Amino acid sequence: MSDSRISGLYKLSVTERINRLRDLGWLSAVDAACLRGGYHVLSAQAADHMIENAVGVFGMPFGVAPNFVINGRECLVPLVVEEPSIVAGLSSAAAMARSQGGFEVENEGSLLIGQVHVTGVADADHAIAALEKAKPALLDAANAVHPRLSNRGGGVRDIELRLFELPDGRPLIAVHVLVDTCDAMGANLVNSICEAIGPDVAAACEGNVALRILSNLADRSLYTARVRYDLPGNVRDAIVTANDIALVDPYRAATHNKGVMNGVDAVAIATGNDWRAIEAGVHAYAAVSGRYRALTRWSAADNGDLLGEITLPLKVATVGGTLKSNPGAALGLAMTGANSAVELAELMAAVGLAQNFAALRALATSGIQAGHMKLHARSVAASAGTPDALFDEVVAKLIDSGEIKDWKAQEILAAMRLPTARASKQASTASGKAAGKVILLGEHGVVYGRHALALPIPDVVNVTVTRASELSHDLPGEFVDLLLNELGVDDKGWRISIDSQLPFGKGLGSSAAIAVAIVRAFDNALKLGLDDESVNAIAFASEKLAHGTPSGVDNTLATFAKPMLFRNAGGLQFESVDIRTPPPLIVAWGQETGRTSEQVAGVRERREQSVEHFDYLFDEMDRLSRQGAELLQAAKWEELGALMNICHGLLNAIGVSTPDLERMVALARQRGAVGAKITGAGGGGSIVALCPGNSSAVDTEFRRAGYQTLVLAGEQTS
Ligand code: MEV
Repeated sequence: MSDSRISGLYKLSVTERINRLRDLGWLSAVDAACLRGGYHVLSAQAADHMIENAVGVFGMPFGVAPNFVINGRECLVPLVVEEPSIVAGLSSAAAMARSQGGFEVENEGSLLIGQVHVTGVADADHAIAALEKAKPALLDAANAVHPRLSNRGGGVRDIELRLFELPDGRPLIAVHVLVDTCDAMGANLVNSICEAIGPDVAAACEGNVALRILSNLADRSLYTARVRYDLPGNVRDAIVTANDIALVDPYRAATHNKGVMNGVDAVAIATGNDWRAIEAGVHAYAAVSGRYRALTRWSAADNGDLLGEITLPLKVATVGGTLKSNPGAALGLAMTGANSAVELAELMAAVGLAQNFAALRALATSGIQAGHMKLHARSVAASAGTPDALFDEVVAKLIDSGEIKDWKAQEILAAMRLPTARASKQASTASGKAAGKVILLGEHGVVYGRHALALPIPDVVNVTVTRASELSHDLPGEFVDLLLNELGVDDKGWRISIDSQLPFGKGLGSSAAIAVAIVRAFDNALKLGLDDESVNAIAFASEKLAHGTPSGVDNTLATFAKPMLFRNAGGLQFESVDIRTPPPLIVAWGQETGRTSEQVAGVRERREQSVEHFDYLFDEMDRLSRQGAELLQAAKWEELGALMNICHGLLNAIGVSTPDLERMVALARQRGAVGAKITGAGGGGSIVALCPGNSSAVDTEFRRAGYQTLVLAGEQTS
């Protein structure tokens, strides 16, 4: 593995970060593509097979902490966690540890404990003696339950007996079966062994079996991590004192150990491990002395270094369970580079210690809130749509204001934009362009989390703004007001003229394209310096006004004008599809207008009557879109056309076609289109046809039949 020091990772965009990790060899090309496209996210169908009454999947941030060296191995740590500062704290704790060799982790075996609890014995000493005698036979019986486990080098290693008294004075014997489960967590395996040997245990001691299940107090699988830091004496001593406090005060110990688990749980989730089991075991272990205490020990070494140590019970898995069903977990595990469950547990122990160091260092120096506030301010500024150029200033102003809230960010932004807008009105006329969009594959499936493939219709909307005595335009007033407001244009003396080849209400993204072109025209006129992200954000705000809950596809295509594969997985995710040859497409429309919201509602109602069938169709649309993106890149028009035809059939099957749309599709195919289908929500609107070598003929035919067209590429008719 390459060096895990990756400087400046936090400064990159998500896509740049993924690409950097791929370039450095920490992510395979396939995993990088999965992350970029959001394919690693569990599908709702898979979720439905995992738990009962699934209603979807729930998103969490997925991050990485670089810089770790564990037992001489360079490691990248995948983390799934929603709390700010955790990833940053870990990364810097790992970076600081490198100069002293990083983390050393030892492990004293990796056995999972199964318990068979026995009550009702006549004489406890006699029962214990009988069980001791039966041990060899019980071990054989236990090992016979999973013969393949022994073949893999695992198996039942020992049986131990523990005697208790129940609250009413009756004896209780806990029979512990110690199992080496290899790289599996082993819960099911150990439970089945306990269930299988229960009757033999009962017979051997003439008692009753009460319970047969594993113990999550995995103290036969202990990992001890150690680290050394060279720190100023006052910081070192403050950390030692902070740890000592958590050794004696259980109230502080709970918070201290919570900090440890911030890191351990985040790795457990990212690698598909049962974090509740780990939490239960760790906290029980923190109390084994009879008093709940810190899991860590920090002390000053003879040479003045700070020495840290943690011991955690960790029985984790690198095979089976969620790893099979959740692609995100498999990806997280691959990132760790761990070759076994032992290596993964070593990493978790090191992460627990590093996380505790980060927390204690912050508490002992600046306090925890300063770092939290900075990250919180960054996230508020980002979600308020702050452009890159103003980002650091807005963050600083938010922190200074003491009000790290969305409304404050908006207020700061407005105050910063107004003077810029006022000061730099330089042109009395300017124009801006934007693209329309055509969905090639996957509409409607996209409402249910599947992929869709969309192409831009470049430069079909052009807006010119010209200085005038008052505001004038032919658009809905509230739409223009919103845009001017977002832009910070307070002097409204402008004439806005639209030159658009896109029809309204035909599913081609007309309103978003007009919004983008208006924003760009004002940007050019007033030299506002907006980047594409800001243009897109403003257009999205106007789409919300026009459509309520838009997907964001139209404004994104209008702004970036690139072919894109997109999907809604708790937020819209885009992947640009680079193409060399534009597909010879024709878009055609007639008199019918389909209202997107009505079509989406209609599909929802029909799906409710037949969820399984509809989801099957949506899955198929998903496959068509993904495969279609590859065919589009490879310019394989025949194959791509075939997928469009299939997709049209599916759209018809979910009830969004109309006789007129069917006529248009048939007409295109009869004139030689290799593929033709509805584009957009249907119920009226447009169709798209792929016409290699015959776009003129198809176009002429449409016009002759009274339809209107846009030829996207290929020979034009006039
Ligand atoms: C916050 O999630 C974790 C800390 O409270 C841990 C600690 O206090 O040691 C910062």
